[in-house]
Amino acid sequence: MLPIARGEAPATDDLSGKTVATLFFENSTRTRLSFTMAGKRVGAEVLDLNASTSSSSKGETLLDTALNVQAMGVDGLVLRCSASGGPQLVAKGVRIPVINAGDGRHEHPTQGLLDALALQEHFGRKSLDGLTIAIVGDVGSSRVARSNAQSLTALGADVVLTGPPSLVPEAMAELVTSTENTRGSVRVEHELDGILGSIDAIMMLRVQFERHGGLGIPSDYVEQFGLSVDRAARLRDGAPVLHPGPINRGTEIDPEVADGPRSLILDQVTCGVAVRMAILKGLLSRNS
Ligand code: CP
Repeated sequence: MLPIARGEAPATDDLSGKTVATLFFENSTRTRLSFTMAGKRVGAEVLDLNASTSSSSKGETLLDTALNVQAMGVDGLVLRCSASGGPQLVAKGVRIPVINAGDGRHEHPTQGLLDALALQEHFGRKSLDGLTIAIVGDVGSSRVARSNAQSLTALGADVVLTGPPSLVPEAMAELVTSTENTRGSVRVEHELDGILGSIDAIMMLRVQFERHGGLGIPSDYVEQFGLSVDRAARLRDGAPVLHPGPINRGTEIDPEVADGPRSLILDQVTCGVAVRMAILKGLLSRNS
């Protein structure tokens, strides 16, 4: 799907006659628009529910909203909500596929897949065996970190969750339980400078103040964990910098690094369209 997402190959009509609805009860730029783009690129019609003007504000439950959208003849739902487990709950109550576009702090599976694809493209191989990838910042609040821990270890990478103890509890080392499909490991580090020279890629995370309940972050957070130009220069040659967005320039990452030669940030966005095209095509053509 990547050549289509990059505009190097024509769009398809694989899902002609199918309709996808995006239901976003939390704000989004990348995920929502890229699902819309992805649907159009594989020939589906895409309807967007405007959550702020929907009847959820009158007390309608997530499942009732989904059932009503299904009753209109929609073939698949893309759902983002603040309740962890919301998409799973809805999926049990409807007949059509439900794609999790991010649920609370829990999971952001399509982000985990698109980040894996961006790294596969960067390193030129499908396996991430032998690579160590740091995920840095507000890991505890991050559904992106949880989904990346799953996807990257499944592909063989070792993941280092890095940040202050208040944002990265030790217990997060148990995030991924070993299965025969999980080849890589997860560990926790509380110092960024000590690992810079031994990692193959670094993924910075936004501090999610909105999920902290007013607790805030350590006063030296930017000094200790911000990816400055000086820190980026101490990364291994060729080690890329990732960020799922939205970026807070000058907090978790300096603008020169975000826009610099190591940055895969906009490649991640393009990979997002490709991954979501594949997911929509896989799920909705199976459901014909
Ligand atoms: N990465 C990500 O989920 O971005 P949005 O919140 O803009 O969708």
